[in-house]
Amino acid sequence: MTSILDTYLRIDEYRRLFGIAKDASRIIAEQRKIIIVSHIDADGLSSSAIAKTSLDRAGIENEVVFIKNLDPMVLKGLPPGFKWFVDLGSGSMNMIRDANIECLITDHHLPDQFDIDLEFRRDIVKFLQHSDFEGITQVNPHMVGLNGSYEISGSGTTFLVSMAMSDENADMVVPAIVGAIGDVQDANSGVLEGINRSFIDLGVDIGLISVKNDLRFFGRATRPLSKFLELGSDRIPGVSNLRGSASRMLRYLNVPLKDGDRFRVYNDLSEDEKTRIRTEILKRLIIAGIDDLDSIFGETYVFPKEDARSPTYDAKEFATLLNSCGRYDEGLTGLKVAAGDRGESYSKALSLMASHRRKLVNGYNHIMAEGIKSLNNIDYFYAGKDINENIVGIIANMILARDPDTVRPLITMADSDPGTVKASVRANKTFLKIGIDLADLFRRAAATVGGVGGGHDLAAGANIPAGRMNDFLNFIDLEIGKAVSSITEIK
Ligand code: C5P
Ligand code: C5P
Ligand code: C5P
Ligand code: ZN
Repeated sequence: MTSILDTYLRIDEYRRLFGIAKDASRIIAEQRKIIIVSHIDADGLSSSAIAKTSLDRAGIENEVVFIKNLDPMVLKGLPPGFKWFVDLGSGSMNMIRDANIECLITDHHLPDQFDIDLEFRRDIVKFLQHSDFEGITQVNPHMVGLNGSYEISGSGTTFLVSMAMSDENADMVVPAIVGAIGDVQDANSGVLEGINRSFIDLGVDIGLISVKNDLRFFGRATRPLSKFLELGSDRIPGVSNLRGSASRMLRYLNVPLKDGDRFRVYNDLSEDEKTRIRTEILKRLIIAGIDDLDSIFGETYVFPKEDARSPTYDAKEFATLLNSCGRYDEGLTGLKVAAGDRGESYSKALSLMASHRRKLVNGYNHIMAEGIKSLNNIDYFYAGKDINENIVGIIANMILARDPDTVRPLITMADSDPGTVKASVRANKTFLKIGIDLADLFRRAAATVGGVGGGHDLAAGANIPAGRMNDFLNFIDLEIGKAVSSITEIK
């Protein structure tokens, strides 16, 4: 079967992964009922929206379960029947096999088979054919040597299966991109790359996606213009973090702040007004000698069929809208919005987003007021019950963004289930030169204290026993210390 996606997959590895997805779609077609097991963040909800929509269209009965992460108890509690794990599962393959679960996994996390046998690291496809994993089918970029942090997300791998099922699912390219942006897959080079780029090309051709070179600040569709400019970056001379400064600049540029009684957002402006603002910002940056402009100008991804004042217009804000649902036990609301609902679920999501943003700002301010703690090689903060465990990672990102050159990872922690602590870690790109993958480090550090962990090279998480927090932190600090000193020795 050919797919319209075939022509967009220009590299061998992309086609191989799509081939694996095509095999997976045949297994899907044989099922009478499927339990979709979804992660709760923007990528997870985008993934389950794609899976559910595709199954509904194919007339396959389905049910969705939302979970924060997999452990043996969670696996045991799942409804009976064939499972489709989206945006999770790869890091827990041994656990899934031990629980005798027949399933499809569409995910981009580091697969845990990597731990088992070094020989198979290079070709885990071979390993997956090993009879031990009979009944488990996986679509994961690591299987063909692609990077799961930047080249494709959980929703992207799910989209591959969806496109293998039918070309009518091409509209699901929108959640496929929202998921990638939600997982910050453009962080590497400032633009979406890898298979994500093929999806963009498809989306542009079918009129559902536009790529614009623009200001990359958060809130083009939803933040009042002055707040958008003052808080969008820390680096614009005379504007960043200076209350009232943006309205002075806008007056000088002859760009009205309001339209009648209503505050304007960036997307309300004419192209000419936007150009005046961008030129002024560029001028100030050049005068100040700031030449690393990637965080300020670059590609943005928008959905032209959506209302330009809605968060669903812009991939980044769409992802925030979904996080506002999933991270507060409203997964189904987020799924429906990702799948295209602009009615009841959408209204509910908007009000959840207002509260999510308040919680982010409060959490951020709380950590800043209390002060971040340090060990030799890491920074950390333990928030107890003061911050929701599901958003400590997002707040870590907000704090790190203020210091884009630091090589030190930031670990933020909060209380989780009784007796356990959730830890999130984020690091800037500069951390990569140390040669440590945070997913691997967190998995090992959690294991040494009886917890579980995983994720991506620059963004990972763990759940650990509350009493072992210091051991956990010390292990991480020591491991990074060792890696740092071995680099120094080589030099
Ligand atoms: O479980 P999942 O992979 O979907 O979660 C990825 C998380 O990692 C997201 O919350 C995303 O914000 C974060 N991330 C990040 N920086 C990166 C990659 C991912 O903060 N470079
Ligand atoms: O617009 P508002 O002030 O409500 O946003 C709350 C906070 O969340 C801001 O500091 C904003 O920068 C941050 N945020 C972010 N990335 C997101 C969502 C929110 O940095 N995806
Ligand atoms: O929750 P947070 O956004 O910090 O998660 C960052 C990454 O770590 C995600 O990809 C998540 O799936 C992963 N993670 C994990 N095991 C945990 C907690 C988080 O693999 N126990
Ligand atoms: Zn993901």
